[in-house]
Amino acid sequence: MKVLAMEGVFVASGDDVYHLNTLSRLLLQGRISPGVMLATTPQFVGSAMHLGQWFQSQSEDTTAFMMANGGHSPYASTSLDLEFNSLFNQTMAADSRFAADLVVGDCGEVLKGIGSLVDVAGGTGTMARAIAKAFPHIKCSVLDLPQVIQGISPADNNNNVQFIAGDMMEFIPPAHGILLKVILLLSIAACIN
Ligand SMILES: C[S@@+](CC[C@H](N)C(=O)[O-])C[C@H]1O[C@@H](n2cnc3c(N)ncnc32)[C@H](O)[C@@H]1O
Repeated sequence: MKVLAMEGVFVASGDDVYHLNTLSRLLLQGRISPGVMLATTPQFVGSAMHLGQWFQSQSEDTTAFMMANGGHSPYASTSLDLEFNSLFNQTMAADSRFAADLVVGDCGEVLKGIGSLVDVAGGTGTMARAIAKAFPHIKCSVLDLPQVIQGISPADNNNNVQFIAGDMMEFIPPAHGILLKVILLLSIAACIN
């Protein structure tokens, strides 16, 4: 708690007494809390515990995460562990809720003239739903891995948002616009690994 207080996550007031501040209040809200839960899963905490071993390893085809998780990448792990998959998807959706307001508000200009859009690796579709709601003339689709798309209710597949299970390395549905949010860097890392 002392370290967290020094980092500005809590306010220390007296011996072993701590108060919430703006940051810790945010962490408790639904918008961010799944991320805190994800960061503290054995999968991710275990990765931190393997950093030293990974730094010293000569192998180029492994990561600290893989070392801690039986050789599985994060996305292999989401396909194997339902709870981890659900937490991962909730975290991505929470992050997207922040960005969605910005994209449909201040950045709406970018979407001008676009009639269809595919959110590649778009998770559970938070961003695509927000775009389709704000710009009903844009037909949106969301491509993501089967373990993510299988959690989408059939009722959520409608005229304005279509969900497609697949591997973006093999196929990207055609559309006027392609949205890649928090994905390229991770994909490059996955290819290298
Ligand atoms: C960091 S999350 C970003 C999700 C979303 N774009 C967002 O910003 O919230 C990465 C997403 O990429 C998906 N993903 C990873 N590899 C993929 C692949 N080969 N094909 C399709 N989706 C993939 C994951 O399932 C996950 O939903």
